[in-house]
Amino acid sequence: MDDFEIKILFLSYKGGVGKSSLAINLAAEIDADYVTNDLITTSTKAIQIEANKRKIPKELLTLDRVVFDFGAMSTQLDPKAVQATEVSDVIVIPTLTDIRSLTATISTVDLVSPMNKPIAIIINNFTKKKKFDEAKLFLSERLGDIPIFAIRATTLFDRVANDGEEWFKNIHNNNGEWQLNRSRIAHEEVYNAIIELGTQ
Ligand SMILES: Nc1ncnc2c1ncn2[C@@H]1O[C@H](COP(=O)(O)OP(=O)(O)OP(=O)(O)O)[C@@H](O)[C@H]1O
Ligand SMILES: [Mg+2]
Repeated sequence: MDDFEIKILFLSYKGGVGKSSLAINLAAEIDADYVTNDLITTSTKAIQIEANKRKIPKELLTLDRVVFDFGAMSTQLDPKAVQATEVSDVIVIPTLTDIRSLTATISTVDLVSPMNKPIAIIINNFTKKKKFDEAKLFLSERLGDIPIFAIRATTLFDRVANDGEEWFKNIHNNNGEWQLNRSRIAHEEVYNAIIELGTQ
């Protein structure tokens, strides 16, 4: 792995859009620390920030290579998310294709835009390309030319949850898992593009 420093933040007002799944896999891919405000995580290596903490502990803000995953706390965005936005090099907002998710995505972009950081949107967990195209059009019409990536519905996240991040990193060495490996490669392309946004 190249020697680079990066702080990546996964954020959304909307829950269940794939923040944690994507953040955990991206962190595994680049051997980054994974820091979350979620109380429950499938990641064995997660650094969890206690819910009662009002600020992100300083030693976590200064990590060289880190993926932050900030889920919404009920209907309010966790104030620690703003702090993470300030230190991050790139902000990733995953979204589903339904109208509530897309509307929440616009609100999340509005929240982080003043910080002038590169922003990427991942349209996640869709099966029909038509749904992706419609969602992309909806977002581009309202947000201009913001980078929008695609991650299809996949069983990869379930496998990582069951078999761990080491399995994810070594899947290309395994035999007979061609479809999963193809998905992993597709994800890697998205992750690499995000890293490029955050390191340029
Ligand atoms: N591309 C995908 N294909 C299939 N399942 C997916 C995909 N993305 C996410 N999921 C599934 O959707 C569910 C929600 O994903 P995840 O927990 O990563 O979202 P989240 O944004 O972190 O949610 P929360 O706001 O509750 O923290 C999980 O069961 C996850 O496995
Ligand atoms: Mg989560």
